Amino acid sequence: MKSPRQENPKLSQSKWVCSDLAVLKVFTKSPEETLNLGERVGSVSKLGDVICLEGDLGTGKTVFVNGIARGLGFAGPIRSPTFIIISLIPEIKLCHVDAYRLDAAEALISAGIDEFLEGDWICVIEWAEKVIEALPADRLWVKFSFSDADSERIIRFAPGAGWVERIRTLSG
Ligand SMILES: Nc1ncnc2c1ncn2[C@@H]1O[C@H](COP(=O)(O)OP(=O)(O)OP(=O)(O)O)[C@@H](O)[C@H]1O
Ligand SMILES: [Mg+2]
Repeated sequence: MKSPRQENPKLSQSKWVCSDLAVLKVFTKSPEETLNLGERVGSVSKLGDVICLEGDLGTGKTVFVNGIARGLGFAGPIRSPTFIIISLIPEIKLCHVDAYRLDAAEALISAGIDEFLEGDWICVIEWAEKVIEALPADRLWVKFSFSDADSERIIRFAPGAGWVERIRTLSG
């Protein structure tokens, strides 16, 4: 299998690769870099946003959510809400979902997600691919993957209409 660097030689010169406005690819070399990236996304997030995180166990989704929370002004650490599905941080209006244990979108709807998707919250969903049918089309999709190096992650952004400009500013 080709490494991501072989796929795109530009990556060795630049951390950010924005080959097309719809997709942005970032390499982070440490948990701190992923935290900082999440913080930048949090700093441009607003009420009503839906941020979908896809990626295998341990790829950095929860680290990124901690960054989003920090970008929204929350200092404390947050954990994956695996057993309670939906966890709220009311101070910053963050609704943090972990869909890992859910089989289908209906389970998330039964858990009451619509109240938060339609309300004044910022919803961040780990394992969003499992419940995609329950999620609105205008969302920021973020895909996390492992890289060749242990502490490197590949993070790809696919912004919905409401996110294109904001993601463009992040890559600048
Ligand atoms: N570049 C990196 N970015 C993020 N995390 C990294 C990176 N390099 C190493 N790590 C480590 O990988 C782990 C990521 O854990 P995290 O809980 O964020 O994963 P996750 O995707 O939320 O997994 P899960 O699906 O189990 O919830 C942490 O132990 C972190 O220290
Ligand atoms: Mg997690």
